[in-house]
Amino acid sequence: MTVPYSGIPGRQPHHPPVLLPCDPEAAELTGPVFGPAAVGPSDHDLTRRHTGEPLGERITVSGRILDRRGRPVRGQLVEIWQANAAGRYAHPADRNPAPLDPNFTGTGRCLTDDEGRYRFTTVRPGAYPVDATAWRPAHIHFSLFGTTFAQRLVTQMYFPGDPLLDRDGIHHAVRDPAARARLIAARDPAGPAYHWDVVLDGPCATWTEGTR
Ligand SMILES: [Fe+2]
Repeated sequence: MTVPYSGIPGRQPHHPPVLLPCDPEAAELTGPVFGPAAVGPSDHDLTRRHTGEPLGERITVSGRILDRRGRPVRGQLVEIWQANAAGRYAHPADRNPAPLDPNFTGTGRCLTDDEGRYRFTTVRPGAYPVDATAWRPAHIHFSLFGTTFAQRLVTQMYFPGDPLLDRDGIHHAVRDPAARARLIAARDPAGPAYHWDVVLDGPCATWTEGTR
């Protein structure tokens, strides 16, 4: 049974939209543009951002960014953020009493190659409590930047076989079972490697926050 997540109402807008006194198309055209120079050579490796080794199981997460016809999306900025192996974010707003890891910040980024591939090395994130009765399953947040800020898509990747998935209110906020299943990575039987493709649009599009 899915446990209602008390945090969901807090994620919804409580006021009507405000019309900004600017041209949104102009904002898109002048938004930030990232190129290869903006991404460091080790930004994809979350285990090498500090002098020491982070705690937790080393994993790789890789896949492709594709359009609705299966064509690769090249040069796409892919950013991830996640909790550490104990389920704690390195963020002042995280009140989980689990320990911080001084050798793990939990953020990384890379650009897709000519085949639309991305690849991260990280540690498997821990589950964490969201209130007195519910825990979030292990997950990694993904951001795909598009070509301008206004195109940014945000979603979450989950791990196969996680017993917390069936009770997670956020995962089950995706009503379509097939779309929900597409958010779960595939594990490589040969090692601690996970594969997860993101499809930007079309009937098999990956669910993104804001999708209904
Ligand atoms: Fe999270």
